[in-house]
Amino acid sequence: MVARVIPVDPFDLVVLGATGDLAQRKILPALCRRLAEGQMPPEAQIIGAARSALSLAAFKEMVADNLAADRGGARISADDITAFLDRLEYVTIDARSGDGWQELGARLRPDITRAFYFSVAPALFGDLAQRVSEHGLATPQTRIVVEKPFGHDLDSARALNAMLAQHFTEAQIYRIDHYLGKETVQNLMAVRFANILFEPLWNARFVDHVQITVAETVGVGGRADYYDQSGAMRDMVQNHLMQLLCLIAMEPPHRFDPDAVRDEKLKVIRALDPVAPGDVVRGQYGAAAGLPGYIDEVGDARSHTESYVALKVGISNWRWKGTPFYLRTGKRLAARTSEIAVTFRDPPHSIFGEDAEWRENVLVIRLQPNEGMTLRVMIKEPGPGGMRLKDVALDMSFAKALGDDMQIPDAYERLIMDVIRGNQTLFMRGDEVEAAWAWTDPVIGAWTADATAPLSYPAGSDGPEAAARLLQRDERQWREVR
Ligand code: BG6
Repeated sequence: MVARVIPVDPFDLVVLGATGDLAQRKILPALCRRLAEGQMPPEAQIIGAARSALSLAAFKEMVADNLAADRGGARISADDITAFLDRLEYVTIDARSGDGWQELGARLRPDITRAFYFSVAPALFGDLAQRVSEHGLATPQTRIVVEKPFGHDLDSARALNAMLAQHFTEAQIYRIDHYLGKETVQNLMAVRFANILFEPLWNARFVDHVQITVAETVGVGGRADYYDQSGAMRDMVQNHLMQLLCLIAMEPPHRFDPDAVRDEKLKVIRALDPVAPGDVVRGQYGAAAGLPGYIDEVGDARSHTESYVALKVGISNWRWKGTPFYLRTGKRLAARTSEIAVTFRDPPHSIFGEDAEWRENVLVIRLQPNEGMTLRVMIKEPGPGGMRLKDVALDMSFAKALGDDMQIPDAYERLIMDVIRGNQTLFMRGDEVEAAWAWTDPVIGAWTADATAPLSYPAGSDGPEAAARLLQRDERQWREVR
């Protein structure tokens, strides 16, 4: 299957924080691949901006080293890298002072799309917005891209929204949640809204429960300073898992357009029940199997930051009242798996008698790795012995269905091109982020008020046992994370 590449118009993109990890690891490689595939036009200009007093040659060398070190994967050749380096400029700039801004302004071209990507510590978002605006760099075609974390709680998110609103309209602000750029996450909308099959069953009458799992094998690694102030609830649940929940639970938007989609997501967040204290489990990994524990990695034996959360979530609306959504995410788990499993209810009556063995129908959408979908259905086991039932999986791997050479683009490739095209569908609106914090804050607040440490789980395991009990209590169980 050949992807259809529609080139975007020429643009100037300023990557603020261009020498940082995110820019080098994600943003610049994503742009390089888009250029290689013909989507980014040769007239595009990418201006790296950072505090380091680098020459353009030194900046290019840094970018080239990163790209060559397999940052771009097999899809980037040496020629692609050379062509990409030709598109780069570099300006030394200080977010907190006026240094460098005039020079930056002189390089920007009038009358074309202009984007400023804030790939910096959140504490600098306000300064950057102000500098861009006071130096007259914000034209009507200007957009800003703001990375997560967008605030630390509801108050800080509100303050940040208000501050950005002083300089930019909502239509100019692109708040990134990179999960929305993942092909398989967008696929949730295609599965739900491009098929008639699921919609009639997609409600509390037919769905017993939903499980959303984002399990990682990595620990906090080099991000200890950030992560220890954040924890799994802020780092993953408030944004990535919340977005997955919204895409599964929302009503069909009347069109696939930015506000129609975001209006429906917002309604889901607002309909979430507050989490009861007994419906949440928080954990922290301890050293095991040769892997360090969380407190060793962050270097603070007293840290109560959670590296794991499991929650039971209710949605109070007509579609979902009575169907629990179970969410879990954690670091240093047994496997890296992200999936959504929708378990349907049993048929109302068994014509095969009381003794027939039932397994529920389950639709599993695998987000990563082995992207695909599985539907578990009951069939007759072949052969003699009466009407014996058996559950089998209708298993579809997207790679097999779409061709083994199918390349799944990185989330940032799609998202940056959407910024240039001016399409906000896959970006979070200000009210959506605030609603997500409003729901998350009380959970975190209760932990802060409670001096109890998170439950320990061995690194490389399935998480704390209490998470298993959360479902056992409801006579359900988590799917195995493998
Ligand atoms: C980031 C979190 O937003 O998402 C990280 O800050 C996490 O802690 C990462 O590891 C997971 O993203 P992905 O794309 O690897 O699933």
